[in-house]
Amino acid sequence: MDRRRFLKGSLASAASATLCMGATTWARADSANRPSLPLPNLIDVSKSGRLDLVAQRGNHRFLPGASSATLGYNQDFLGPVVRARRGQEVAVGLLNDLPEPLATHWHGLLVPGNVDGGPHQPIHPGALWKPVLPIDQPPSTAWFHAHTYPHTARQVYAGLAGVFQIDDGRDDERGLPHDHGDDDFTLIIQDRRFDSLGRLDYRLGMMDRMHGFQGDRILVNGAENPRARMPRSIVRLRLLNGSNARIYHLRFDDDRPMHVIASDSGYWPKPTAANELRLAPGERIEVLVDFRDGHDARLVTGPDRNQGGPGMMGMMSGLRSFTSSLLEGDMPVLSFHPAGKKGAVDQLPETIDDELPAPTTRFAQRRHFRLDMMLGGMPMMGMMGGSGGPTMGINGRPFDMQRINEQVSLGTTEHWTVESDMLMHPFHIHGVRFRVLADENGRSTRLENQGYKDTVLVNGRAELAVEFTQPASHEKPFMYHCHILEHEDGGMMGHFSVS
Ligand code: C2O
Ligand code: CU
Ligand code: CU
Repeated sequence: MDRRRFLKGSLASAASATLCMGATTWARADSANRPSLPLPNLIDVSKSGRLDLVAQRGNHRFLPGASSATLGYNQDFLGPVVRARRGQEVAVGLLNDLPEPLATHWHGLLVPGNVDGGPHQPIHPGALWKPVLPIDQPPSTAWFHAHTYPHTARQVYAGLAGVFQIDDGRDDERGLPHDHGDDDFTLIIQDRRFDSLGRLDYRLGMMDRMHGFQGDRILVNGAENPRARMPRSIVRLRLLNGSNARIYHLRFDDDRPMHVIASDSGYWPKPTAANELRLAPGERIEVLVDFRDGHDARLVTGPDRNQGGPGMMGMMSGLRSFTSSLLEGDMPVLSFHPAGKKGAVDQLPETIDDELPAPTTRFAQRRHFRLDMMLGGMPMMGMMGGSGGPTMGINGRPFDMQRINEQVSLGTTEHWTVESDMLMHPFHIHGVRFRVLADENGRSTRLENQGYKDTVLVNGRAELAVEFTQPASHEKPFMYHCHILEHEDGGMMGHFSVS
């Protein structure tokens, strides 16, 4: 065995395959062979009121030469972009054409628990699920994805995710671009790993269970570093972090500003310029970008530094940081090529929506959640021993399908404090929107956490004002969980009723 092969072998096994062998075999897409940005089909349900989805098996060619077994909604990998109108009902027919049970959750939709699609509502193989979704919330970019306990991470990784946009027909008045694929781009950002044959790889090692599974290649809508053509005008990007665990730090390589217009649950009063935006798993952020200059630009991401603190975690992540810093500087996400014509919107709107009301200070209840990566003082023993049982939890207990954790009164606002353990954890609550009162250990809020949200990255301690407007029973409750999907499947999840 020569030295290089030995080094490769020992690094790979020591880092438990965090170093992707495929990286040496498969050239990264360069400008010569860069794919164009795949655009998901738009299904506008505002007229028909019907949404037919089939969860299906497929094959997708991520890298030249090799094709991978994938899953998708109505397509081989990922799903369509659904656009619905505020005030309508959407009658869904979701056929599970997979050989395994599948739950599908509408992340960001404010709908009752009995149609929310959490782990209490698995669709059995061959069965049809027919929830009716009452759409009554401000315009926003929501999404839908597999939520089958404890298989969410694998199913989403294989492709079971799509986007759900809520529209109120007033974007022209607001001066916002809204032509799907023309000046309004839905971008599902995900990282993936590939094996030596170039096939999609999801082999979970101990490090992956601990940190969440990360890939060394960034895909947008299923393509690596694709190129988007757009008009020389103001363009809207709807950014969704659909990754299992990776946190992005997005910016343009020429430092052009991104003008934030919306967070998870709706518009901001006016565009707010930022040069870099952090996007954690499950979060969405919408931005306007000015391409009137006609210059090509590249969206890139800095490395994910969610590696944990000192102690055991630090020691174990040391090697990982080492290997990933070898591979990761800035990574390209998407290249933009403004073409000759002018688009519909050629000036930044000054205002978009009403001012946000000040968050309430009258809370019906205060609750406290501690996101735990070690239970019973024996961290990660389950992972090391390979028992496969839950090793993560909230407030010292792993998720238990049979035990409702909290009961909330319908129509109230509560104060939730969420504390993270060892890593930063993206905390998501079903069926609600909230305001972030404080983040990063109680200091004031980051730019990304302005506005209404349903997912927040907890770095130390976050405080939330949570509005409960949707009912949920004990049988079909709402979930709260870490959106690092391996943590969710590992038991960092709870559920609550609202009545
Ligand atoms: Cu996006 Cu409970 O998940
Ligand atoms: Cu959700
Ligand atoms: Cu977590």
